[in-house]
Amino acid sequence: MDWVNKELSHIKTHSPYKRPKRLQDYYKLDSNENMVLGEKFVKAIALKSLYDNDLREYPLEHFEILFKKLAKYVNTNTKNIGIGSGSDQIMDLLLSTICKGKTAITVNPTFSYFIDRCNMHKIPTTTVNLSALDNSLDFEFFIEESKNNDIIYIASPNNPTSNQFKIGDIINLIEISKEKLIIIDEAYVEFSGYSLSNIVNKYNNLIVMRTFSKAFGLAGARIGYIVANEEIINIFNQYIQLPYPLSSFSMQLAIEAIENIEIIKRSIETIKQERNKTYNKLNQIKEIKTYNSDANFLFFQVFNHFNKIKERLVQEKILVKYFGNIGNYKGAIRATIGTEEMNDKLISTLEESQN
Ligand SMILES: Cc1ncc(COP(=O)(O)O)c(C=O)c1O
Repeated sequence: MDWVNKELSHIKTHSPYKRPKRLQDYYKLDSNENMVLGEKFVKAIALKSLYDNDLREYPLEHFEILFKKLAKYVNTNTKNIGIGSGSDQIMDLLLSTICKGKTAITVNPTFSYFIDRCNMHKIPTTTVNLSALDNSLDFEFFIEESKNNDIIYIASPNNPTSNQFKIGDIINLIEISKEKLIIIDEAYVEFSGYSLSNIVNKYNNLIVMRTFSKAFGLAGARIGYIVANEEIINIFNQYIQLPYPLSSFSMQLAIEAIENIEIIKRSIETIKQERNKTYNKLNQIKEIKTYNSDANFLFFQVFNHFNKIKERLVQEKILVKYFGNIGNYKGAIRATIGTEEMNDKLISTLEESQN
């Protein structure tokens, strides 16, 4: 079994995924979930999904109904939709099948899971640093660098930097990268200015990834989907994806959530208002540089105050994501926009840590 040991040793060279611990009584601002959406609302649609389902049967009619709802929601056709157990699972499947043996390029920093899974599937990745001045990307340089790669991954808005690149730059990138697979990860798109989901029929190399984990407040239900042209979707749905990638319960939950879109939209609006307020407050703290956000989180640098600020946040039981020095950024931290109470706690703790 030499080859098994060799494979296992190769896998062990990667850093293992550590699920964060569930800590009680903490201000949970570390995973970009939607904590503004009422728990009662989520419970109500979950209960309805439970009662409307016969879990003894495999999911059947759910596919068609969900694809229809999703197509309408993202302004495209049912033939352009594929689903999965979170966008994580879809990304992993794409990397291990159609991307096998290829090379990828993305920006730094970005959603680390993409790079981790590329490593796992032996897909070499190149990254281009974003500017710490304003999160901008030198697209000319990126395009030049991408010439030797097969896959381009852009999170739009980007995690952790929170910005969405200009639509013109992204369209231009897609236009001149006709021979490459372009994955646009729109996990946070509901908080941003534009989506590319309605242009997938113009390109045969564009996959837009979306999720119910962020704006829809259903991270625990693990519902993700992709939007792409018919050919990619046919292959994905009929060959690549599992026959039953989601439980009928989760699919019904997604249907219920879309049917209650107005409630979801209200929570998005509240988050955007809270985001502006929090951004303005953090911007007044001289030790912190905060970036304009198109997502449901803020990204900021605290430079050499990193340890001091980390200590304060831990003391005050505020969970955020610590990046430290990454790419061109120094002492970087990402904090989710939560409820008013959570955000105010974050603001006051950061204000006090100046002293
Ligand atoms: C950019 C980005 N894409 C995808 C995901 C994962 O989404 P899902 O919960 O659908 O797997 C995340 C989660 O943090 C993310 O930040």
